[in-house]
Amino acid sequence: METLLRNLFQGLAKNRFANRLAKKYGLRFGAKRFVAGITVQEAIEAVRQLNREGRIATLDHLGEFISTREEAVESARMCLNTLEAIEESGVESNLSLKLTSLGLDIDKALCMDNMRSILRRARELNNFVRIDMEDYAHCQASLDIYRELRREFDNVGIVLQAYLYRTEQDIRDLNAFKANLRLVKGAYKESPKVAFPDKKDVDANYAKIIKLHMSNGHYTAIASHDENMISIARRYAEDNGIPRTQFEFQMLYGIREDLQKRLAAEGYKVRIYVPFGRDWFGYNMRRLAERPANVWFVLRNLFK
Ligand code: FDA
Repeated sequence: METLLRNLFQGLAKNRFANRLAKKYGLRFGAKRFVAGITVQEAIEAVRQLNREGRIATLDHLGEFISTREEAVESARMCLNTLEAIEESGVESNLSLKLTSLGLDIDKALCMDNMRSILRRARELNNFVRIDMEDYAHCQASLDIYRELRREFDNVGIVLQAYLYRTEQDIRDLNAFKANLRLVKGAYKESPKVAFPDKKDVDANYAKIIKLHMSNGHYTAIASHDENMISIARRYAEDNGIPRTQFEFQMLYGIREDLQKRLAAEGYKVRIYVPFGRDWFGYNMRRLAERPANVWFVLRNLFK
């Protein structure tokens, strides 16, 4: 049953029709639990509240499917707006984005132009931009773009996923780039040809890559709600003299608030991923796929 639900939600996340329909109707069915709002002002208010409670943030303007150059340019404009809003409000947050929403599938040069203008402005504002990792089909292209940009910019990082067989080697290859990495388990439905099908293997690889990147001496964002993985990272840092300035924990808005607060109170850097915007549907479906038990939360909200 759980596998069935996972497949259903992962399928819905990629369904263009469902995404377009949901976009029309605003935040529905409990979407507010995972998404901070529609407007950048609502998102900034959510970050302000997190900052008050000792947590910092990364803002993501949601955008799932882009099919025209105009949409990609508009998406870049929203990223620039978000950077300006962070600066004007004085909240502590950086920016996360997806390369497909900046035109990766339309024209690589357009995507690079958009990225360069975002990174240039972020650099002027002393801010940082993280490239989210999407499905396997975009992994190589995303890493190629990251490498190219990293040669020009210090303020760019990327995400690697523990479920992919290739990730350990990618971390070794990125060593020369002193990469600032967010490490995650991975949120997309992938073939066993490219990704570990069993959760226990994903977890084992996750622990392995956290240690590998930390030992390489580069900044590591451990993005997980798994207390076991968080303990492994903490213990590894303590045992190996890795300073708290070289890593941070990251979690998603609305998930495991208790754990977020506990780590922040213990003096760890805790950054919350705060998504906002009309394109909430695909993002929320991926959250349901990770934990089908969340479906009861959605059902309860259907009738509110
Ligand atoms: P795991 O799935 O094992 O969950 C551990 C525990 O966390 C669960 O038992 C439950 O208590 C809680 N939990 C996890 N997910 C939950 C949910 N949806 N609702 C309620 N509770 C939940 N992926 C990707 O492919 N590319 C990316 O760029 C990113 N970016 C990213 C940023 C940040 C800040 C985070 C935290 C995560 C991502 N992810 C991601 C998603 C990631 O790949 C993964 O799917 C989720 O984090 C869930 O995996 P966990 O590591 O939390 O462990």
